[in-house]
Amino acid sequence: MTGDQPRSPAQVCPVTGDQPRSPAEAREDEAGFDASLRPNLLKDYVGQDDVKGRLDVAIRAARERGEPLDHILLCGPPGLGKTSLAQIIAREMGVACRRTQGPAIERGGDLAAILSDLEQGDVLFIDEIHGLPRKIEEVLYPAMEDFELDLVVGQGPSARSLRLALKPFTLVAATTRAGMLNAPLRDRFGSTFRLEFYRVEDLEQIVARSAGILGVPLDREGAREIAGRSRGTPRIANRQLKWVRDWAQVHTPGKTVNGPAAAAALKLHQVDPAGLEPMDRAILAAVLDRFGGGPVGVESLAALLGEEPETVASVYEPYLVQSGYLERTPRGRVATDLAWRHLGRERTPGTARQGRLL
Ligand SMILES: Nc1ncnc2c1ncn2[C@@H]1O[C@H](COP(=O)(O)OP(=O)(O)O)[C@@H](O)[C@H]1O
Ligand SMILES: [Mg+2]
Repeated sequence: MTGDQPRSPAQVCPVTGDQPRSPAEAREDEAGFDASLRPNLLKDYVGQDDVKGRLDVAIRAARERGEPLDHILLCGPPGLGKTSLAQIIAREMGVACRRTQGPAIERGGDLAAILSDLEQGDVLFIDEIHGLPRKIEEVLYPAMEDFELDLVVGQGPSARSLRLALKPFTLVAATTRAGMLNAPLRDRFGSTFRLEFYRVEDLEQIVARSAGILGVPLDREGAREIAGRSRGTPRIANRQLKWVRDWAQVHTPGKTVNGPAAAAALKLHQVDPAGLEPMDRAILAAVLDRFGGGPVGVESLAALLGEEPETVASVYEPYLVQSGYLERTPRGRVATDLAWRHLGRERTPGTARQGRLL
């Protein structure tokens, strides 16, 4: 997906997608929907004030010096705005953004081709960098540090090592699993930004902005209802706005997304008033009912739910931990009092308490 893309920034990093398409194209539709709602500039990027403040200074300083930005690592759960931020960085720097994914780079030569194609100051965005194969990381090290590529040409006794100069560039990498990165790779980033779950006020603003772009009539209560149920995550807030828009179109005169419409539509999609989705509740129910409240390892939990441990750990757990339903202890995950109450279960004496005292 990277080697043969056209070089114009607009084409390499599309910022405005089409309007949502037919249901049959649901996945691409989701990606197109995301793209259509992406903020283009730092000033449109809602919330994350610390990250924005630090980035703003770094971008202005680099621009003034006429130098590329230092390499940047963006960490955080899915849907918090890492891809958006990578594109904003390129746009604010006035450079092109080439985009690829860690697991998609299979051979050192693939990465070498991408790197040698970069122009001065370009942003290379590597999403899911934790999925980059280890031996390819080694191609990245001299590229990040000295803007050089070490290539081996030929095979066997006639193999020679060649050093190739690259144009200075900025690597912006994103990961949902910062803990899985090798220390030597992590250390090569000039700055690391951790995105936090968003405050309800910020999500209200994001939903209102998205409604404006999509031409959806939305009132204050509607925005608040969606914001409060979107797990602190802009992508979820936007997806819910789409569901509520459809519901309101069918059920409310004037098609306005108001509080009752939002509550009814989200209930239909099994999002509870706390914003937990069926999988969140299934995880909590498994910890409570099958493991007496925990502690339980993520592998056992995932196996029981028929999910990948990776997905449970990176997609679902961060919000459950952050909002106080689950605790991570050295012996595994433990349900909190809030989880017992939320699922309306009686706490069985013993196990959970032991886990929490660790
Ligand atoms: N700070 C923000 N302000 C406004 N919209 C945002 C923000 N962060 C994310 N979004 C919206 O959420 C969606 C998902 O963001 P994305 O950058 O793809 O997240 P990630 O790459 O972290 O999974 C995008 O459509 C974008 O419009
Ligand atoms: Mg992304």
